[in-house]
Amino acid sequence: RVEDLLSRLTLEEKVSLVHANAHFSTAGVPRLGIPDLKMDDGPLGVREEVGEHGVILNHKDDFATAMPGTLGLAATWDVDLAKAYGTVIGQEAKQRGKDIMLGPAVNIQRTPLCGRNFEYMGEDPFLTSRMTVNYIEGEQAQGVSSCVKHFAANSQEYQRGSINEIIDERALREIYLPAFRAAVQEAEVMTVMGAYNQINGQHCCENERLLNEILKNEWGFKGAVISDWGGVHHTDLAALNGMDIEMGTRGAYAGNYLANPFLEGLKSGKFPVSVLDDKVRRHFHVMFKLNLIHDPSAPPATNAAPPTLLSTRAHQEIALKIAEESLVLLKNQNLLPLDPAQTKSIAIIGANATAKFAHGGGSAMIKPPYEITALEGISNRLGGNMKLIYAQGYNPPVGSGRVDFRPEPEETPAPLNPSNLMAEAVAAAKSADVVIYVGGLNHKGGYDTEGADRKDIKLPGGQDELIQKIVQANPRTVVVLMGGGAVEMDAWLARVPAVLYTWYPGLEGGNALAHVLFGDVNPSGKLPCTFPKRLADSPAHALHTYPGTNGTVVYKEGLLVGYRWFDTKKIKPLFPFGYGLSYTTFKYSNLNLVPGPEALGAPVTVEFELAN
Ligand code: BGC
Repeated sequence: RVEDLLSRLTLEEKVSLVHANAHFSTAGVPRLGIPDLKMDDGPLGVREEVGEHGVILNHKDDFATAMPGTLGLAATWDVDLAKAYGTVIGQEAKQRGKDIMLGPAVNIQRTPLCGRNFEYMGEDPFLTSRMTVNYIEGEQAQGVSSCVKHFAANSQEYQRGSINEIIDERALREIYLPAFRAAVQEAEVMTVMGAYNQINGQHCCENERLLNEILKNEWGFKGAVISDWGGVHHTDLAALNGMDIEMGTRGAYAGNYLANPFLEGLKSGKFPVSVLDDKVRRHFHVMFKLNLIHDPSAPPATNAAPPTLLSTRAHQEIALKIAEESLVLLKNQNLLPLDPAQTKSIAIIGANATAKFAHGGGSAMIKPPYEITALEGISNRLGGNMKLIYAQGYNPPVGSGRVDFRPEPEETPAPLNPSNLMAEAVAAAKSADVVIYVGGLNHKGGYDTEGADRKDIKLPGGQDELIQKIVQANPRTVVVLMGGGAVEMDAWLARVPAVLYTWYPGLEGGNALAHVLFGDVNPSGKLPCTFPKRLADSPAHALHTYPGTNGTVVYKEGLLVGYRWFDTKKIKPLFPFGYGLSYTTFKYSNLNLVPGPEALGAPVTVEFELAN
């Protein structure tokens, strides 16, 4: 059918299939029953409808379940939850008539500073691969294509459009590529998105080695490579080096590198038509797999399922379950879980207690039908039977990241007087039986936002000092941190009895937090990334190879990314990869390694006794 359809297209029609004709689609060929190919972000849920240049259209029927950030999903270490996660997004995408969902985002966390770590899956290629495969299987089973991104090594946002990453072959193969390979070879992902950055001197969207040699020839990828938005820079390279669909615009879509300039090159004989045919075959491969091509005399094809509720209660419950399983208990000296029967009043302090996060962070933003804040979740759980005192404590940080591009305008509330905020917080802490401090990062001002990296891993907004004052006023203080990864805790960790890390927990986040704080759910998340004591301990920073010089960053640490570095160099992190406590204790004993049946290369079985 692919060959038949291909033979019926004019040259112009073929070219129209290999570049965008709108922000999130390519044009169809109605006379042959070929519909527009419709895409949408992204990795954490189905993004609301946007127009040209990503301008929000304010529709009333485009709400979606805001799933917890995928870094939190990785903290569950639970492949069934990854599958459920992809299933939810796939079902909602289908409802919204999307053919391709731009996710999951599976770049490896090379530095804790990367602004997109919250939508990636941590520092380990194996964990990331397992989550990726299950996410994609869940999503594609719903009849939509996943678009695994950003191929490859989009591990910093600063200068992402131009940075040239020098990565040795082994690090590329063992650290940065495995999740993509698993997506292609195990999950049979239908589309792959090329990254903005360069690898070894060539932009990823026109990179011969990555696209033609590795992805297509070596891994046997049959689907289409889609560029990141504006990630193509040359007609020749994109045409010849394996880019199949150029997205984004340079003013008018006809001016895209793979639009008129490509057509002219084909007409003049500069490019063989076989190069174009290969791209169109891949486009059709995706379309036939999605069952999008129909008899042109029938009503126009659409990928939409019959309309029902977009974000169903069942989907929200999956988001809740994943959030509950993702919370990482970092410290607990006999304070958690809190017992409401023994508590008369709780001070809830911190700007993140009332903050909503789903509609932020760049292209991963979601418009959920509601979002339960920490304060609401705690108050829901206690059902009005407790005195709750709220104090903001600090001004939420704005505008301090290492930014070179900002995708969305930011509203900046007028800052309040910091010493008044602190005095109010201390008074609240003193007056209550227990303090639940809710702080950390947010999606504003260069923290956990596409297009920007953090400048350091210090808690912003004077929170270090604030937490010290609060715990002085009331030693029964739980510190809850939200964000996309490591922050320094030196200033207060020794004095605070309990610390819980929540990532960005999605639309049910506040309820999930309350369920863990009050012991309805046992915290069992484990860190998917190392939390260093200080930034200078992590590999890219110890070796001064971030953010690069003169537009080039050399991945000098090679394989020693994340825990591989800390283990090899014997550097004690604040909390290691895989760390996370629970409300019970475990003891392992009688460890025994049983070799497999064959002498060499056979799997080893690890046995031990577990007491809980
Ligand atoms: C991001 C992609 C996203 C695309 C479309 C780009 O800026 O890097 O992850 O899918 O925009 O919104």
